[in-house]
Amino acid sequence: MNTQQVKNMDHDYIGNTYKRYDVVFEHGAGSYLYDKDGKKYLDFFSGIAVNALGHNNSAINAAIAKQAKKFIHLSNHFLSETQAELAKMIVDNSFGTKVFFVNTGSEANEVAMKLARKWGLLHKNGANKIVSFYNSFHGRTLAALTATAQEKFHKYLNPVSPGFVYAKFNDLNDLVSKIDNSTAAVLIEPVQAEGGIFTPEPGFLEGLRAVCDKNNILLIYDEVQSGLGRLGKKFGYDVYGVKPDIMTLAKSIGGGIPLSVVVIDKKLEEIYTYGDHGTTMGGNPVACAAGLVVLKTVLKPAFLREVREKGAYIISQIKKWHNPKILEIRGAGLLIGLQLEKGAAEMVSAALKAGLIINVTGTETIRIEPPLNIKKADIDKGLAILKKVMA
Ligand SMILES: Cc1ncc(COP(=O)(O)O)c(C=O)c1O
Repeated sequence: MNTQQVKNMDHDYIGNTYKRYDVVFEHGAGSYLYDKDGKKYLDFFSGIAVNALGHNNSAINAAIAKQAKKFIHLSNHFLSETQAELAKMIVDNSFGTKVFFVNTGSEANEVAMKLARKWGLLHKNGANKIVSFYNSFHGRTLAALTATAQEKFHKYLNPVSPGFVYAKFNDLNDLVSKIDNSTAAVLIEPVQAEGGIFTPEPGFLEGLRAVCDKNNILLIYDEVQSGLGRLGKKFGYDVYGVKPDIMTLAKSIGGGIPLSVVVIDKKLEEIYTYGDHGTTMGGNPVACAAGLVVLKTVLKPAFLREVREKGAYIISQIKKWHNPKILEIRGAGLLIGLQLEKGAAEMVSAALKAGLIINVTGTETIRIEPPLNIKKADIDKGLAILKKVMA
């Protein structure tokens, strides 16, 4: 099929919920993608932070093929070697002592919130309220979207899931005004990603932790986008030095295959018991095999140091442009946002035409999140395109 034929079939047979670019990619290699016409694109988007190790990664492919030759799926009725190994690796590298495997970021957040509500029932007189933050994004399922405190997502959702209240990000006073004895948990992205790459101000997460501790409230970090090296440390909470009680991971953890994880603190180990959580596909053996490769690579100190260096380099280079269209540069590690006043979508289209994949998020925020293992020379090539496009 040529690009036009794919476009026609997409139009005729796929529900119209995405605004898609007219490109059909044929294959990828490292930080590059190649379309049907042989055109080469540098990927500064990584499939929304999924392809942390780039495209067509030989180690991930080998792990997938090896596992697929054994079996692709069993069921969670049987012990799983790949799950056990991946769970141990996550626990060994995080605050958590146990994990639950699911499939997507939204689902991981659902599991985290359900767990918090059961904890509230057992340990806090039935407390079930969850506080989340304006401008957040937690996924598209009913409760995750209710937790996503952006009006535009609630328009057709009513009645939204009960038991949610919203506070202002980076505003402890507002948070305190939103909690009471019925609050079970606070759910937050350490860095708000989809909302436009907003980082926590110094002291905010420390203050948040203190408020939670003082009021016996669980702290849940949605690290679906910020976790696993994206911010230049193992997890986002390592960047800010404030641990949660529950953390959700997804996106890059399955090496491109759907996989997500809920990581819990020791004090929550007894909350979920037999039958409280389940999924047919969660912790799929192939996804976990790929996940082992991702973790073994990404969690190495030298790899993480390079992510920090590359992120700092990108920001320093962009600052040198002194481009008045860029009002602010935000971010950490390789999750970077360029705040514009207007024209972000047009710039993304122009960049694509020039062979660079970037994205718009939030309100006129250009998001840069290349594969974590992108080469310095490729960063320079991408920045050269971006500079021209933004001139
Ligand atoms: C922070 C955060 N949480 C949750 C989600 C939802 O993940 P998924 O699309 O895998 O359900 C996303 C997706 O962008 C996200 O960025």
